[in-house]
Amino acid sequence: MKDQLKKISDSFTEKLSSSVNLEDIENIRVAFLGKKGELTAVLRGMGALSAEERPKMGQLVNEVRAKIEGDLAKKAEELKAAVREAKLKSETLDVTMPGKVNKSGRFHPLQQVITEMENVFIGMGYEIADGPEVEYDYYNFEALNIPEGHPARDTQDTFYITDKVLLRTQTSSVQIHVMEAKKPPIKIICPGKVYRSDSMDATHSPIFHQLEGLVVDKGVTMGDLKGTLEVYAKAMFGPETKIRLRPHHFPFTEPSAEVDVSCWNCGGEGCSVCKGEGWVEVLGCGMVHPDVLSRCGIDPKEYSGFAFGIGIERTAMARFGVKDLRQFFENDVRFLDQF
Ligand code: DAH
Repeated sequence: MKDQLKKISDSFTEKLSSSVNLEDIENIRVAFLGKKGELTAVLRGMGALSAEERPKMGQLVNEVRAKIEGDLAKKAEELKAAVREAKLKSETLDVTMPGKVNKSGRFHPLQQVITEMENVFIGMGYEIADGPEVEYDYYNFEALNIPEGHPARDTQDTFYITDKVLLRTQTSSVQIHVMEAKKPPIKIICPGKVYRSDSMDATHSPIFHQLEGLVVDKGVTMGDLKGTLEVYAKAMFGPETKIRLRPHHFPFTEPSAEVDVSCWNCGGEGCSVCKGEGWVEVLGCGMVHPDVLSRCGIDPKEYSGFAFGIGIERTAMARFGVKDLRQFFENDVRFLDQF
């Protein structure tokens, strides 16, 4: 048995000296000390020894085991150190190399303006509604008092999918969806894309954005509308901003108005931004037409409401001093990076 131990010990030393990595070490450990290992087999055989011999052999076996364990640990440490050393050598850092710049993204300027508008209205208790961009003629025109043949359709020509399905020309269509789905009190805004078959120039695009607003409740007045728009204008264009309502016509509101804000650039004196007017038009609005209310199952004798539609590109151009609307859609990062 002593010979056997000596053999085991020698063969261990030999194997260990030829080991090159931590995996080898583990294999060796298993081969000698594992459940089916060589030394374990010797221990099992000890039952056959006499009571006298047993403790002596036991001690010998333990010595060999302690040596094996010690050697294994030492070798593992050496290998780890070598790996660390090699890593340090290969990972030299050249501090004279130019650094890598991580370019962080940001929101598109139009989205920045939308978020800003949303925050102003959320602050006044509005909820954000959503509606489809592919829309039925009914929601985009009919229900808004724009039947077939109505002249308002000429100014809002769009892309037709079928005779009755089109790309919406205005977010006002969402007013109808909201009023069909929910009874007053209603207080929503809806930002979104709209489409018109206009060709692209500095102030037109076949796709652009609007933000619709709708409030319906008992006793809602034009005064409420004006107050709301005043809060909006001051928040967006500065606390000095004044607004003015000019009578206008929209088929789905009565009365209707276009709203100008005093020029944020010159304060009303007249400059190139306001083309010498002192005022800049920013939105359309009015009191929801009683026929529109009844069509959605809301009794106009009991309820009244106001609505408004804000041009988002127009507002973003004003806010950022952008002169050509096309730049918002070209996605040239040299342009977008500035906002
Ligand atoms: N939808 C109109 C347009 O695209 C804008 C508008 C005007 C919306 C008056 C409204 C409103 O909600 O009351 O020209």
